[in-house]
Amino acid sequence: MNNFEFKNPTKIIFGKDTIEQLKNEIPADAKVLLLYGGGSIKKNGIYDQVKTALANVDVNEFGGIPANPEYATLMDALKVIKDENITYLLAVGGGSVIDGTKFLSAAAVFEGDTPWDILTKNVRTEKGMPFGTVLTLPATGSEMNSGAVITREETKEKLAMGGPGLFPVFSILDPQVITSIPERQLANGLTDAFTHVLEQYMTYPIGALLQDRFAESILQTLVEVAPTVLKDPTNYQAASNFMWSCTMALNGLIQKGVPGDWAIHMMGHELTALFGIDHARTLAVITPSHYKYNFEAKKEKLAQYGERVWNITEGSTDDKAYAAIEKTTAFFHELGIDTKLSDYTKDYEGTAEEVAKRFKTRGWKLGERQALMPEDAEKIVKMAY
Ligand code: NZQ
Ligand code: ZN
Repeated sequence: MNNFEFKNPTKIIFGKDTIEQLKNEIPADAKVLLLYGGGSIKKNGIYDQVKTALANVDVNEFGGIPANPEYATLMDALKVIKDENITYLLAVGGGSVIDGTKFLSAAAVFEGDTPWDILTKNVRTEKGMPFGTVLTLPATGSEMNSGAVITREETKEKLAMGGPGLFPVFSILDPQVITSIPERQLANGLTDAFTHVLEQYMTYPIGALLQDRFAESILQTLVEVAPTVLKDPTNYQAASNFMWSCTMALNGLIQKGVPGDWAIHMMGHELTALFGIDHARTLAVITPSHYKYNFEAKKEKLAQYGERVWNITEGSTDDKAYAAIEKTTAFFHELGIDTKLSDYTKDYEGTAEEVAKRFKTRGWKLGERQALMPEDAEKIVKMAY
């Protein structure tokens, strides 16, 4: 096991009817900016619950943060923060609203002229403007981590940022919120969380027995609850297990002391930037090709995953590893998620070359051994056509 440090300061308030507890978490003298997305919270009652809880707090609002939070929109929100002397941010939404809020938390204290530099120059935020979240969509784990991914339509870029100052102060997780989520987004959430675990697990054996079993148990739980979540999101048992699994998949716990890959996400982000494909779907496109291309380097963990998560008992290590990739692809299909780029766009020719070109410009070497070169990414994306 590798050496590690672990600190996660986010307070989680989990369970039925917990949104009302907002009133205990926001400092009484705070000047709050409530941030939300395209308006789902106004239809499903979450907005009303939040407003009731904040009845005695000074609150401004900023709505319209789009899926794949857009830099230009966030710059409008930043102006509100400055003009209104906001001191506290409250994200009410899924990963996009929470990530947008993290960007604002960083940008509000950023001393340079161009906040986009936070993304291009890897500025780590040591202390941002404090913020809390009310999660409306289990998927990204953003509610309990310190990372964010921001999109810039103008340049067709989607880049990551983070820093120890960007953990939410608190996050409220009421699993009942999933009842209004469209099936497509539920499937996305299951796929995203599943892939988050794979990115931190499907590397090479390092003798971290507990981390492996944490990871496998999250995967098993997602597989177990997925059919019920999709069929009946009012099933509280399934909803609560789904929500907590998504948070645990990317709150730092399972990545401690082990190598991480994340190349699937980096290639996937380019597909969202270029074609606007939902984040989770880009992961389902890249995952099978990535594991086939890197089969030799990953086959021990693939076989272990096959045995423990999919109960594959027959054959050699290679046989089990290969079957595990097939099982993963079949799982995505069962969720209603297509796994080829050509399922999403007719204009896929040239994508692999473009991704490789971008990675080369950024000097990226990816994967658990930083050995995945732009030429490899090109081949993987091509395999995913
Ligand atoms: O915008 P509104 O109207 O709220 O509708 C949203 C949006 O259209 C809707 N929705 C959310 N909660 C709902 C709901 N509809 C009905 N009822 C509810 N309770 O769902 C749609 C998608 O929302 P979004 O926030 O975009 O989804 P998700 O949570 O999957 O977030 C995706 C973003 O997170 C980033 C992705 O790249 C993408 O930009 N990620 C962030 C990560 C992180 N910070 O750690 C890690 C991830 O790998 C990921 O990259
Ligand atoms: Zn993801």
